[in-house]
Amino acid sequence: MTDAIAYERIGEIAVLKAQNPPVNALGFDIREGLLAGIERAEKDGVKAVLIYGDGRTYFAGADITEFGKPPRGIFLPDLCARIEASPLVVVSALHGTALGGGLEVALASHYRIAVPSARVGLPEVLIGVMPGAGGTQRLPRLIGVEASVDVITSGRQVGAKEALALGILDRIEEGEPREIGLAYTQELLDSGATRRPVSEMPAPEAVDFDALYDKVLKKGRGLLAPAVAVRGIQACCELPFDAGMKRERELFMELMDTDQRQGMIHAFFSERAVSKLPELKGIAPRALASIGVIGGGTMGAGIATAALLAGLPVVMLEMSDEAAEAAKGRIAGNLQGALKRGKISEAQFTQLTEEALTLATDYDALSDVDLVIEAVFEEMSVKKVVFGKLDAVCKKGAILASNTSYLDVNEIAACTSRPEDVIGLHFFSPAHVMKLLEIVVADKTALDVVATGFALGQRLKKISVRAGVCDGFIGNRILATYRKAADHMVLDGASPYQIDKALTDFGFAMGPFAVADLAGLDIGWAVRKRKRAEGMDPRDRDSEYMDKVCEAGNFGQKTGKGYYVYEAGKRGGTPNPEVTDLIAAERAAKGITPRAFTDDEIVTRYMAAMVNEAAKVVGEGIARRPLDVDMTLLFGYGFPRYRGGPLKWADMEGLDKVLATIKNGAQEDDYFWEPAPLLEKLVAEGRSFDDLNKE
Ligand code: NAI
Repeated sequence: MTDAIAYERIGEIAVLKAQNPPVNALGFDIREGLLAGIERAEKDGVKAVLIYGDGRTYFAGADITEFGKPPRGIFLPDLCARIEASPLVVVSALHGTALGGGLEVALASHYRIAVPSARVGLPEVLIGVMPGAGGTQRLPRLIGVEASVDVITSGRQVGAKEALALGILDRIEEGEPREIGLAYTQELLDSGATRRPVSEMPAPEAVDFDALYDKVLKKGRGLLAPAVAVRGIQACCELPFDAGMKRERELFMELMDTDQRQGMIHAFFSERAVSKLPELKGIAPRALASIGVIGGGTMGAGIATAALLAGLPVVMLEMSDEAAEAAKGRIAGNLQGALKRGKISEAQFTQLTEEALTLATDYDALSDVDLVIEAVFEEMSVKKVVFGKLDAVCKKGAILASNTSYLDVNEIAACTSRPEDVIGLHFFSPAHVMKLLEIVVADKTALDVVATGFALGQRLKKISVRAGVCDGFIGNRILATYRKAADHMVLDGASPYQIDKALTDFGFAMGPFAVADLAGLDIGWAVRKRKRAEGMDPRDRDSEYMDKVCEAGNFGQKTGKGYYVYEAGKRGGTPNPEVTDLIAAERAAKGITPRAFTDDEIVTRYMAAMVNEAAKVVGEGIARRPLDVDMTLLFGYGFPRYRGGPLKWADMEGLDKVLATIKNGAQEDDYFWEPAPLLEKLVAEGRSFDDLNKE
């Protein structure tokens, strides 16, 4: 028997205590220990076995360090079968999180008790697979098709109370898992309860699984794992238990072989790695007890909302009392959403809007805050005035941050006497919802200021990515390039609607033109005007058709018309025929004969442009590693998670193939399709972006 499971006999009960900190992951030692424990109990003359976890949780799940390694010891599905087949009454007492394999062991037990704070779930789909140790065969027998489809395809964590109501748990009891488990097991024995294997329970009635499969696939925007898991639940309903287990295994192995699985695993690990910066090791963040926000428009109000929800008092500075009140209205509107979703109570709503939020128009109100985030208009001259004033009033050591989308943070820092305290904190709209935070480190930003940026990100539950200073940092810089690739394709013959459709079919949340309508076409119009005023490179392919749409007062969703026409009360829009006509006119004026594009070609070009710019961003050190770009696109730009991110996608596609597309494009337009030196280097050396992640 391994040390990971301690064996103890208490009267008629054998107690198996898992002691494999920190989370009792179901690695080799635990699996072998459980097997040995069950066998020993059966020879020990006891009537029941109690399984529970020492420390902070029952088995939290599989041992992720075993991922990708050859299997060792007893296989988890066999272990579950062995536990369930025991002639003894097997009880599991749950606390902490019983997820994935952890819940599957609990389901193989005959009875389940938990503490009220316990959570259970089958999150396998979140890493691109599905339950593989009987989860899809046992759970539906306990809770039916509808509830198991919900639990398994969402991968969500289910609280003990709900799990009890669903029938996953038999009982909830306050106390220590050992104590409540022992009392419950004794009670079962005293009442003459017998073994109760879930596999012997009747399977639920089958439903229209083909329709369900399609629905789940659509909801996941092409993510296979949850849809394939539906097939597992189907097998539970239609096949005897053992055949169902076999089918579950086949489906599981099918998923293991997919690129999607690789993409999901990459996302899973990168999400955790992205905020870990070696240079911040041992650097303590500065204290963060209150923040100031300047400008309460779309972004400022969202940032303030996020901070308030994280328990940080906010001073909101606006240009006038009216503007401040309007900002408060926006914040209250955001918080109403949180209230409606049950995230905060009425009392908390009042506390946050009336006590934790202070409105101001005078900079003196910011003299005591620990960090200020500026979110005023995107104009360098306006930002400079703001930072000059902040420099004058903020206390020593206060952090001065800008939410600028594109502007030079070094230039902003230089207009203060304390550039070491200045940093970019680039949130995404809506800031209280979107997970991404780009932490823009300027030349002189102090390390503890960077550490504080990451600490704030963590507090606000964001995925924080370090970015260097350049036009648009990581995300918006890459966006500008792939958006341009899309604009070129429109000029050459593709329609914005075909492009959007091809990209949503690829898995993007939205295509670039629907995104532009959502963000507001006035933003792009302003950028085009600025670039033209600055003097554009004559080789750059400018286009003017959307200027005409804007000149007519159409800015996308907010005005009801843009690339698409939006009707009140209807989701999404329909193609705007005026845009199609304007494009045709511009092509004619430019002497372009439109050609047809296949959806494949659209995706290939769009992705090649994205990867090429991303490689430049990594090569120049704007992003630290390829995975930093991947997480930026995943959490800020609707990139499909199951493809891992653009650079993971490129690795899987083959870097030589992507480079060939870029070089091919260069034959018609070498100004735009200039290969990234890093990409050429990797191809020449036969290495991948992921190799760089591991350096
Ligand atoms: P907005 O126009 O909605 O809000 C700007 C607010 O700043 C207004 O309420 C205005 O009254 C206030 N303001 C302007 N000058 C001020 C001053 N001197 N003192 C105090 N308040 C002042 O703009 P939005 O969209 O919120 O953008 C703000 C900043 O955030 C910009 O730098 C923008 O580039 C950046 N950003 C915008 C994103 C977006 O999707 N809208 C995303 C990420 C960053």
